[in-house]
Amino acid sequence: MKRFFGAFFVIGLIVAGSVAFQACDSSSSTAPTGSILDEITGYQSWAVLDAVVGPDPFLAAAHGVNNGFVRVVYASQGPDANGTYPEGTIIVKELRDADGNVVGPLTIMLKRGSDFNPAGNGWEWAMTNDTRDSIALHGDNQAMALCANCHTQANAAGNGSDWVFKHPKEYTVDDMAAFLDFANWEKVAENFGPDPFLGQAHGVKDSLYRFVWMNYRVKAFDGKYPTGMIIVKELKDRNGNSVGPLTVMVKRGGNFNPDGNGWEWFMTSPTRDTIITRGDNSTAANGICAGCHSQANTGDNGVDWVFTRP
Ligand code: HEC
Ligand code: HEC
Repeated sequence: MKRFFGAFFVIGLIVAGSVAFQACDSSSSTAPTGSILDEITGYQSWAVLDAVVGPDPFLAAAHGVNNGFVRVVYASQGPDANGTYPEGTIIVKELRDADGNVVGPLTIMLKRGSDFNPAGNGWEWAMTNDTRDSIALHGDNQAMALCANCHTQANAAGNGSDWVFKHPKEYTVDDMAAFLDFANWEKVAENFGPDPFLGQAHGVKDSLYRFVWMNYRVKAFDGKYPTGMIIVKELKDRNGNSVGPLTVMVKRGGNFNPDGNGWEWFMTSPTRDTIITRGDNSTAANGICAGCHSQANTGDNGVDWVFTRP
């Protein structure tokens, strides 16, 4: 928490400094009249382009990346066939904490068009204060150089288009290194004994303890866990030794496994030195994981293919 607001405070200072400097420079565009807060009213009912947690190659320490906040991006409309957003488009990015509460400033892009910010293809950049009840900063590429200097990377092929990063994002895991340090994560459950859904699976019959770990302890947003999330289930014997295969779910997102909300299923060998199966609903373990986990989508059993809720 502290780290996040600290980082944004520093960014705020840098940007505020440049705005103050340019206040007496008449060549810097001023924003159109009207309140940006009014323009974004009701943005949470717009289309959700993405909900992501964890590191991003473009983000470094910006935008609340290192603290487990979920970054949710909403857009009032989508881009045209060339990836250009029509005049009038507004995109809002918000941060949510582990309990799903919106925290910190909103960052906003508004497509003004016509003569506004030609260097930035007509976008106005804006940011609210920490409590989101006033606009702290706004302006064109020059006034909001910090935003523009990073977002220009979205214009490179493959990264996005029209200053907007690519959505939906895909998070891929190369190998087991992505989840072998799970013991340093948040333990969200410690189960033992029979379970109505388990039958003979997952070590029940061997009287093993079943621990569930999450790389980020966050709640599902809009019925889905964010891209970048990893959940590991570990088995332990009565002496506390970690035993047998790890079963793992990685929220890969993007266009992966649309039938399974973007989850990739994994299972390691019993000695945990190789991945013996991974894939989508039908390929991982020949569909056995998804077949049982689909029960988590019904009633109050769980949410988004996941039984355990933090
Ligand atoms: C260090 C790089 C960086 C800086 C600085 C930055 N952003 Fe972003 N921004 C991103 C990335 C990366 C995303 C993609 C979503 C994500 O993963 O968080 C993003 C997403 C957004 C979005 C959603 C649209 C999109 O491109 O995905 C808005 C709106 C936004 N930023 C506004 C701003 C504003 C306004 C500022 C300046 C106050 C700013 N950003 C500064 C990297 C940056
Ligand atoms: C017969 C049903 C069943 C099958 C098959 C099954 N699981 Fe599970 N799984 C569960 C239940 C029930 C839980 C809840 C935790 C507990 O008490 O064991 C769970 C928990 C998990 C968790 C922790 C997140 C959560 O949903 O609670 C992961 C990760 C997981 N399973 C992965 C897998 C993978 C990967 C496969 C296939 C290799 C698989 N599971 C096969 C029933 C099943």
